[in-house]
Amino acid sequence: MLELRHFIGLYPFLFFLLFSCDFSKNNTNQKNIQEAPNDEHSYSNIDRVHTTHLHLDLEVDFDEKLIYGIARHTINNKGFDTIIFDTKYLEIEKVTVGNIDSEKEVKFFLGPWDKDSIIGQPLYVITDPAYKKINIYYQTTNKSIALDWLEKNQTEGKKQPFLYTQGEPILTRSWIPIQDSPGNRITYSATVKVPSHLLALMSAENPIEKNESGIYHFKMTKAIPSYLIALAVGNIEYKKIGENCGVYSEPELLKASYKEFEDLPEMIEAAESLYGPYQWGKYDILVLPYSFPFGGMENPMLTFVNPTIISGDKSLVSVVAHELAHSWSGNLVTNNTWNDFWLNEGFTVYFEHRIMEKIYGKEYADMLALVEYEELLNEIDDLKEKKLMSDTRLKLNLKGRDPDDAITQIAYVKGAFFLKTLENKVGRKEIDSFLVSYFEDHSFQSINSEQFSLYLKDKLLTPKHIFFNVEEWLYDQGMPSNHYKVSSLKFKKMKKLAEQFANGKNIFREKGSFEKNKRTKKTEFILKKIKRTDFSTQEWLEFIRNLPEKMNVKDIEIVDKNLDFTHWNNSEILLEWYLLCIKNNYKKAFPSIELFLRKVGRRKYLSPIYKELCKNPENKKWAKKIFDDSKNYYHYVSKNTINKFFK
Ligand code: BES
Ligand code: ZN
Repeated sequence: MLELRHFIGLYPFLFFLLFSCDFSKNNTNQKNIQEAPNDEHSYSNIDRVHTTHLHLDLEVDFDEKLIYGIARHTINNKGFDTIIFDTKYLEIEKVTVGNIDSEKEVKFFLGPWDKDSIIGQPLYVITDPAYKKINIYYQTTNKSIALDWLEKNQTEGKKQPFLYTQGEPILTRSWIPIQDSPGNRITYSATVKVPSHLLALMSAENPIEKNESGIYHFKMTKAIPSYLIALAVGNIEYKKIGENCGVYSEPELLKASYKEFEDLPEMIEAAESLYGPYQWGKYDILVLPYSFPFGGMENPMLTFVNPTIISGDKSLVSVVAHELAHSWSGNLVTNNTWNDFWLNEGFTVYFEHRIMEKIYGKEYADMLALVEYEELLNEIDDLKEKKLMSDTRLKLNLKGRDPDDAITQIAYVKGAFFLKTLENKVGRKEIDSFLVSYFEDHSFQSINSEQFSLYLKDKLLTPKHIFFNVEEWLYDQGMPSNHYKVSSLKFKKMKKLAEQFANGKNIFREKGSFEKNKRTKKTEFILKKIKRTDFSTQEWLEFIRNLPEKMNVKDIEIVDKNLDFTHWNNSEILLEWYLLCIKNNYKKAFPSIELFLRKVGRRKYLSPIYKELCKNPENKKWAKKIFDDSKNYYHYVSKNTINKFFK
């Protein structure tokens, strides 16, 4: 086995070898080979040599917490003798060329890390351009940051261990040596061996039950970007929901998951009626353990979700609409590099709202949009404070930075408001037919903002003689003044209710009204008190957000006694409520906050809660203990973000 440390002293010599002999054959020189392609976050030379199909032979070892693998790349080579892959924290054992029965070892070389250890190490493979198969024998390490290995007791059932991967944006290279740029698309297949009592699933055609051998075969026949390759292994069962959809989860969560997502066929139908046929065959959802760092991840054919979206009353299923929408925006048409991330997420949020509107009505969709719009304004304020106003542009410049920095409300909400504003200008009929052809014309392609802008002008703005400030939206900071304004009567009422409470009114007093009794059909005088079920999740969020930031403990207690937000199994409400409790040091909520932090690994929640706790030294100490106990449970994505608060 070749180890990295063996290389370190050899770098100068190996570089000399590499650039002095091998490249000379192909009329290339050192400068050309090292020239970065347009993706700053990948070393790979996809413009010259690129993978078209990948076959993975994997063995998942839960005892060692390692994956042993062979990545068999079928390549399209325009005549170059060096192919560059991305790797990060992988051990490369050997590289061969040729088909399985006639493999031949070839030279390879791991180049140096980038300065901030963001991108990883390039793997150079030196080969005759005639070879179409390159086989990389490798294993992951305990630093492979895509992987979250969970012990039995960290799962719902507590009986079996669990493993899942998270690839987006550039984590796939930490479990597969691959050209890890969204600008390249590949088909893939895999043979995965796992302990026989566990089921393996991938972002591909999947089994629906375990088999004795523990060997599973996968096929993804549509070309996808590398960040969408995903694997999960655990004690997982399946329940079918509709003709082409269903849900996977640990048995303990299956019934609740099924109930929560039972409207899935309707969602798929709504999405198809908007922007054309669903192209991926099946659409299944995998409910992962609570440590999953996102609400959802759009792995093709198998969306990964965090169980926090199961609130018991379907009030958080817009996350599913969002991930489903990615089957078009993102998975069919993908950002070419992470600088154009808004093409994935902005379009998806817009599409998500359109699906939600179709199923639950415009009033509901508008409330979703308003909740997010408020978050966008906060994000812009935050970025301004951090002197990062250039990150409020849709088109980003992430050179030298971690693409994780692109995950802000700018891409999501400013992006969605671009399309909402455009819709408002051109009309729904026009924008919908434009989007249908946009998806059709760019299916299975990766594009950038400039290509989108040209296409928009060409197909919609110019022929219809419409002026639209596309450049301002793409390249200017903040929100353009012409942005579409959403409003909601229901939100106005909630705001008023919160203000009344803040001004000393007892909003929890019983009130009388005349109502028709449904059974007896008679009108009766009924005394009623405000209760949770009177309003939707979004309305309650608006209520909490409009309570004063500084409250006295007695007032918080009154709200809590009447509505018991502290123990509501609704993660969105919990987040908003916990933040208010921490800001006001309402200690009665702290045991429940602790339980939450020890159970849930979703970054969207952990990050603001830990951040708020760190503002007070006593709370910071308390939070540090919880973080230290939980950090091996959290996925790297969350751990890495929160770690920074304690530095
Ligand atoms: N693709 C994203 C998650 C992601 C983005 C992972 C960038 C890694 C890098 C996913 O579709 C997403 O946006 N999830 C959101 C939910 C959504 C409703 C806004 C989340 O997890 O909160
Ligand atoms: Zn998304």
